[in-house]
Amino acid sequence: MEVGLGTAEALRAPADLLAVGVFADLEPGPGAGEALEALGTPLRPLLESRGFSGKTGEAVGLPTLGRLPAATLLLIGLGDRSAVDAETLRRAAGSLVREARGARHAVTTLAQAVTGDQAGAVRAVTEGALLAAYRFDKYKASSNGRRPTLERLVLVTGDEGDGALEEAIGAGRARATATNLARDLSNEPANNLHPADLAAAAARAVEGKPVRVSVKDERELAAEGFGGIVGVGQGASNPPRLVELRYEPEGARGHVVLVGKGITFDSGGLSLKPPDGMVTMKTDMSGAAAVVGVMSALDELGIRVAVTGYLATAENMPSGTATRPGDVLTMKNGKTVEVLNTDAEGRLVMADALALGAASAPDAIVDVATLTGACVVALGKRYTGVMSNHDELAGELLEAAAEAGERAWRLPLPQEYRKDLDSEVADLKNVSSERYGGALTAGLFLQEFVDGRPWAHLDIAGPARADSDDGYLAKGSTGTAVRTLLSWLGRRGL
Ligand code: BES
Ligand code: MN
Ligand code: ZN
Repeated sequence: MEVGLGTAEALRAPADLLAVGVFADLEPGPGAGEALEALGTPLRPLLESRGFSGKTGEAVGLPTLGRLPAATLLLIGLGDRSAVDAETLRRAAGSLVREARGARHAVTTLAQAVTGDQAGAVRAVTEGALLAAYRFDKYKASSNGRRPTLERLVLVTGDEGDGALEEAIGAGRARATATNLARDLSNEPANNLHPADLAAAAARAVEGKPVRVSVKDERELAAEGFGGIVGVGQGASNPPRLVELRYEPEGARGHVVLVGKGITFDSGGLSLKPPDGMVTMKTDMSGAAAVVGVMSALDELGIRVAVTGYLATAENMPSGTATRPGDVLTMKNGKTVEVLNTDAEGRLVMADALALGAASAPDAIVDVATLTGACVVALGKRYTGVMSNHDELAGELLEAAAEAGERAWRLPLPQEYRKDLDSEVADLKNVSSERYGGALTAGLFLQEFVDGRPWAHLDIAGPARADSDDGYLAKGSTGTAVRTLLSWLGRRGL
């Protein structure tokens, strides 16, 4: 979909659709007045008769019967006038794209609904529209008319673009494209995305960009002491990989490491999952997919921080060569781990990559992983659990998440629970002897591998997938954490 800027003139040019915002008091948003006057009908009774209340994202389409240059007038709820923010605009733009039906060319005044930060508004509308236009239908003969039809979206703004608004469209597009890339990778069935394929896809995603890629195969991983990644991957016919992506802009303000969990399929291994628990486990590489998405957008967004991304990728399968409960693995930092449950595999692959990342003494490490069902029990399906050894870093990430419209909540790393990971035979065991608080003990496990560096762990087991269409995100992989991390890096580079 093409997104461009227009002036009030665009409201008088032919289009399939004109979309304007309406507040909860049923007053139209700024910029819509002239067009609505031309309609010649008072709006309020019409909206009331349709049961439209102006809630955010609510939409109603009206035929204009030749009174406006656009064939259809789409009214989109913006909620309370005083509470309109970037998330409101993303959701409204998402409704626009979804409710556009057969329309191909739309004009909208949505970006004018906020006074003040026009660039932020343009970015939000662009982002919401492009995220809502995403579909994963490559394996379907026909998309059953579910694919959004919009080809061109013109954003009417109050302002005679001085370049800043064009740049805002570019930023919104880069953020949405990176998120949609993560969604594509994560939605891909596990038979078509083995660890080596994920490595290749990561290389493709940064081709022609100032990001250097290097990949360790199973032989190198074994020779160099990555016992966690090797141990998890050894049951599968498709061997594991560790991918490194390096972005080093000139005059970088600091260096951060990102680590993504890349389990291309989690069967549980010999501690086999029950069938229902396995159904969505092709998306157990959503953390790695998010890191690929982020790395692919850094240059375009002009991020001024050096970023090294690691994808710890393996397939967790049961077989005669699989790691057994009771096996002891030696991790990259020399710590030994007794594997008591092969389904707690994420922390094993993450541990190696965290140890490698920490060895370069970065200013911060952030990992992203679909790590525990317990995090979903604690926070539900929409919230990311944030665990950190560093209050300032945790605060930065929570703020970035709020800016991006991605829900996140901090969870503690209680040192008094650490003893539940003590093993009889090794430095640690990979599951806690305590049944409850599994998200936290997983976090405590990871903490053993960051060498005291400022670190935050994002458990995205819930929000990595949506069970049904949710705002501007469709059912399936959501690409969660991409936009949070891009916002965080953008703020750090200021
Ligand atoms: N990939 C799962 C976690 C998960 C569960 C993600 C549900 C998304 C939805 C992870 O590898 C896992 O199996 N964790 C176990 C840990 C347990 C064995 C300590 C879990 O959460 O049950
Ligand atoms: Mn598992
Ligand atoms: Zn897993």
